[in-house]
Parts: sequence; structure tokens; C-alpha cells
Amino acid sequence: MAVKFYQSENQVPLEMHKVRMIQKLSLLPVEERLKRIQEAGNNTFLLQNKDVYLDMLTDSGVNCMSDNQFAASMQADDSYAGSATFLRVKKAIKDVFGTDYVLPVHQGRAAENILAEAFCAPGKVALMNFHFTTTKAHATRCGATVEELMDPKGLIPQSDDPFKGDYNLENLRTRIDEIGKDNVAYVRVEAGTNLIGGQPVSLENMLAVTDICHEKGVLSVLDASLLQDNIYFMKTREARCKYMEVGDIYRLLADHFDLIYFSARKLSFSKGGIITSKDEKWYKALMTYIPLYEGFLTYGGIDVRTMESMAVGLYESLDMEYISQGPEFINYLARELDAYGVPVILPPGGLGCHLNAGAFVPDMPHNQYPAAAVGAALYIAGGIRGMERGTVSEQREPDGTERYAELELQRLAVPRRVFTLSQLKYVADRVKWLWDNRSLIGGLEWTEEPEVLRFFFGRMKEIGYWQEQLAEKFRKDFGDSL
Ligand code: F0G
Repeated sequence: MAVKFYQSENQVPLEMHKVRMIQKLSLLPVEERLKRIQEAGNNTFLLQNKDVYLDMLTDSGVNCMSDNQFAASMQADDSYAGSATFLRVKKAIKDVFGTDYVLPVHQGRAAENILAEAFCAPGKVALMNFHFTTTKAHATRCGATVEELMDPKGLIPQSDDPFKGDYNLENLRTRIDEIGKDNVAYVRVEAGTNLIGGQPVSLENMLAVTDICHEKGVLSVLDASLLQDNIYFMKTREARCKYMEVGDIYRLLADHFDLIYFSARKLSFSKGGIITSKDEKWYKALMTYIPLYEGFLTYGGIDVRTMESMAVGLYESLDMEYISQGPEFINYLARELDAYGVPVILPPGGLGCHLNAGAFVPDMPHNQYPAAAVGAALYIAGGIRGMERGTVSEQREPDGTERYAELELQRLAVPRRVFTLSQLKYVADRVKWLWDNRSLIGGLEWTEEPEVLRFFFGRMKEIGYWQEQLAEKFRKDFGDSL
């Protein structure tokens, strides 16, 4: 599948697409970068994108659409009810997942809201391999508790385990029995487990989870937002998947799970979201929430042009040449950094390359927020915007004590089909420089700490003057370069 280079030492992942529309970028001088990150309260969410050279905040809603997606968006049928566009989305879902029942929602977390409204309540427990921020927030808002049953191997930052997102199946059985099937809100599998570094779940493990759910009589839900990366890893790391068609894997999963939902901001290179099922029972249980929260059943808050691009993007999610690009670029970046000694999550997952900030600045205590500090430093070093996925992204306990993240990660997302390899080489170069100068990185303290979702809105300042010193060192090492 991969195109082999004649000179193997020059081997790089090769894109099977070309760029036909561009957006101009700018890279500010380091002194300006220092100013901008401080004005943003050291929170990369509060930077203006015009001040960012490479926006690696997320892979969500920022993937590049294809020519066919743009073309399809021009034939959209704009009507409140019964639009032909929705029929095309339904057909694409049927062709890809094999499911008949389709509910559109405005994005992934809207699906989570509806599942929470329908199934979560005080006394209920939502079981997951690992939580995602919005999934957990919706389940707990409706009074349920969330329990994570991922195999502990998922939290080992560097290993060669191919499927770190797997469930611990023994624990799943035991917990369902202990909780009692009527108190289990649902059992959710998150493909491409986001918060542990985009780590996949094996097909074998996913099917075993659904078998347990059927046996015990509890609802199984697949969060397929990161499924296309997960399927790439199944195809390349799991023997039984090697000769399966990509489409066979989608359909096999849809056959086994009661409900599937996804953020189309990730799966399908577009925007919006979908809940789908092969079973009318679940469609009926959820459909009334759609007009209440999203929009009529045939648009669900998504604009019709976007739905057309989603339909085409879903077919593209079957194409190994498309779905391999993200994971292969991430692998390139992570291996390049690892070879230099920079601590990254291994094996590399989907969605982005994850710096292990806990090991980057090992002497920094959790309450000086190492992952956020490394992120602020990286913006100063290269105008690169990552996302904190560590203690800042957690919420304090009700008594005000900090809940320290199990992994302190700085995520460098690689939006699909967006960056070139030279840009990733630049990222590697600036991260390596930062690694060599890591002794200059200091901690952060809050200046404004919102109670809820503080990672989105909160502001912090440097402890001491390490950021000025880092910028000075950059100037010294790079001369008049940007
Ligand atoms: N599930 C997973 C696994 C996700 O990664 C996301 C979003 C959602 C659900 C929610 O979807 O954004 O469309 O509402 N992840 C984004 C990220 C925000 O940056 O990782 P959404």
C-alpha cells in the first residue's frame, strides 16, 4: 500500500492527493509571540488564529474538504423538512454502516446530550473505556456517574501495545453484574480514544464488548468520531483485519452495536454529527429530542451544504489512501521526535502527536500545570498552537482540591489533508529546540479560573520570568529568523 522510495533512507509518507486551494499563513517574530501568548492568558484557546502559524489545536472541523465534497455542496436541497439532501446522507450512512435509522445532530456533543437525556439519570452508571470531556459532562449533568474500564495498559505513555484503548473485559463483566443491568445507562466504546493520545481499540475487543452487552442485556454505544483512524490501525495492526475491506469493518461494527454516533467534524471531513442504528426501537427512543434540541428530523441543525459534503466525506472515509494520511503523518512526527529523545506517546495514535509533558518537565509539580506550560512554550518557540490535555482540562473536586490528570499531555493535532510534510518537519525542529532548552520552561499559575470548563476560558500567568528568558534564548540561537 505505502509507496516505496528507491532510497529507503529518504522514505516519507506520501500524500495521494494534491492541494488545490490554499490559505496564507503568517509567522510572527518571537517577541510578538511572547506578547500574544501572555495576552491570551497562556491559554491556546484564547489565541487569535491570525497569530498562529500552525494551528494544531484540534482535528475537529478543520480537516480539508475534497473537490468532490465542495462540488456536492452546490447541489444542496434547502428545505426545512424532507430535503433531498437528507436522503443522500441517509443513503451514505446505509452504504457505509449498513444502518437504516439516521438522526442528524449539529455536532458530536449534541448526540451525547441526547443520549444522556434519554439514558442517564441519578443512580445510573455510564461505562466507558475512557471518558471524553463532553461525554462525561453530559452524563454527569443528567445525574449519572461515569466509570472508566479501560485496560490499565492505556495509561503507559510508551509501549508497543497496538491497542491501548481496549476495554478490560473481565472488569466490564464484573461491573455490569455489581451495578445491575437496570442501572447501567449504556456501555460506550470510544474508538480512537481521544484523551489517552488517540489510541485505538481492536476489532476483537469491540466485538467482545458488544457480546458482553448482549449477554447481560445492556445498551452498547459506539462513539465513532475517531473511527476512521481506528480502522486504519485495525487494518495495519490486527491480523484478522488485514484482508478485510474497510467497509466490511464499518458494517460489522454497526451490526453489533445498538447505537453509533459520531462527530462529522472528524469522521467524514466535514461538520455536523449523526446518531444511527439498525434498530427502529432506538430511533424511536431518541427522535423526539431532535426537533427539541437540534432542528427538524431531516436537518438536525446542520446546514444542507454541509450535509452534502458529509455524505461524500463518508464515502471517502472508506478509502485507505485518505484514511491513512493522518495516522502516517502523525507517526512520522512522533517517530522523528522519539528518535531525538523527546517524550511522546507511543505507539503514535490518530488525531495528533502527543507530547508527554510530565516527562518533558519532570520536576514541575502538577499544580504548576506542566502540559499547559509546555504548550505556551511551544507557541513562543514556533507559533505552533497545541491543546492542553492534562490537569487544566480536568475539573476540581467539589471540595476545591485539584484532580490531577493521569497523563499530562500537550496534543499537537494533525488535521487531515491540511499540512504538508515540510510543515511537520518544522514542528519537529521547534519541538527539538524546546526539548534542548527545557530547563528554561517554568510553571503557570491562575489569574482567572472559571469553575466549569476552565480549559476553554481560564487565564494563567508565568511563575517568574521564564517566558522572556525563553524568547531571548530563541533570538540568540536563531538570529534574525522568525
Ligand atoms: N467524541 C470524541 C471522541 C471527540 O473527540 C469529540 C470531539 C466529541 C465526541 C465531540 O464532538 O466536537 O463535534 O461536539 N473532540 C474535539 C477535539 C473537540 O478537539 O478533540 P464535537
